[in-house]
Amino acid sequence: MNSQILGTGSYVPDQVLTNAELERMVETSDVWIRERTGIRERRIAKSGQPCSDLATRAGRQALAAAKLSASDLDLILVATCTGDSPLPATACLVQHHLGATRAAACDVGAACCGFLYALTIADAYVRTGARAVLVIGAEVMSVITDWTDRNTCVLFGDGAGAVVVGPTNDDVGIQAVRLHANGQLAHVIEVPGGGSRYPASEHIIQNKLPYIKMRGNETFKIAVKTMEEAVREVLAVTNVSIEQIDLFIPHQANIRILQAVGQRLGLPMNKTVINLDRLGNTSAASIPLAIDEAVRNGRIRKGMRVLIAAFGAGLTWGAGLIRW
Ligand code: UT7
Repeated sequence: MNSQILGTGSYVPDQVLTNAELERMVETSDVWIRERTGIRERRIAKSGQPCSDLATRAGRQALAAAKLSASDLDLILVATCTGDSPLPATACLVQHHLGATRAAACDVGAACCGFLYALTIADAYVRTGARAVLVIGAEVMSVITDWTDRNTCVLFGDGAGAVVVGPTNDDVGIQAVRLHANGQLAHVIEVPGGGSRYPASEHIIQNKLPYIKMRGNETFKIAVKTMEEAVREVLAVTNVSIEQIDLFIPHQANIRILQAVGQRLGLPMNKTVINLDRLGNTSAASIPLAIDEAVRNGRIRKGMRVLIAAFGAGLTWGAGLIRW
């Protein structure tokens, strides 16, 4: 038995933040941002709009697309690094909002790679008998963004994407996933403050520790190398060649990362789904947002081989192959 994606959904806030607006906030330019990242604009959640709100909207849409009701769900996983609060899990709030009273619920913390990790857990749960798992990637990155740091504030955006995973006896669905992590490189991307190491205090606010810090250039190089390696592993284990891939849906961090990975793999850019130009880097939400868009605009069709790959803080990375 395999698990397959039964329905998809997404939600992005209405408020658009353009590069021109960022030019008025920090020393940057529209040209630099577009040329170095590929980003034109991103969405920003309303003040006080929590992660669970974005996640619930995307989840509701995925359930409708799967033609299931909330009471069918066995498990809800929310991949996020910007949950409503340290506890309870944002997934429990989504469970309540949806009225999914039968469902177990927890969050998955693997930053930008979180959706791929959560999808892997959903796949395993379905293989042990679950009928429906809701996997959501949802982020309000704007609340962990230091809006005075031009190295990071031009990159991120808010949004949520969701898929419902269930069983199938056909030879479709999730074919293989490979996940990796290297905690030795934890310092490369981090939000140092706000947890047990540097708990909430005036000192940590003054020193901007609850905000994202990233060594961008180092991250860039590792991202290209590890995503390529993970994709090659998945292709080898499934015995699928790169030419047989119909669509590539990578985590959306930087257009130059996607170009470099595509080039190394021999995958033309017209097979790569891109949303970062309009949404920026939405962390765990980027892949399910791109999947939902590709399903709705007909770019993903039945029978296609869809490759996904992600990279993020941890460091974490991985890849997966889905037969639609
Ligand atoms: O999703 C999680 C994973 N995250 C990523 O994968 C992000 C990966 N990294 C990147 O996307 C890129 O490294 C960045 C977009 C963050 C930076 O691009 P880069 O080509 O690696 O630039 P850099 O960090 O080497 O900086 C080049 C120059 C520096 O100036 P100097 O020191 O050469 O004078 C920066 O200060 O660009 C400067 N710079 C900027 N200039 C204008 C950095 N940010 C900006 C900015 N506007 N926003």
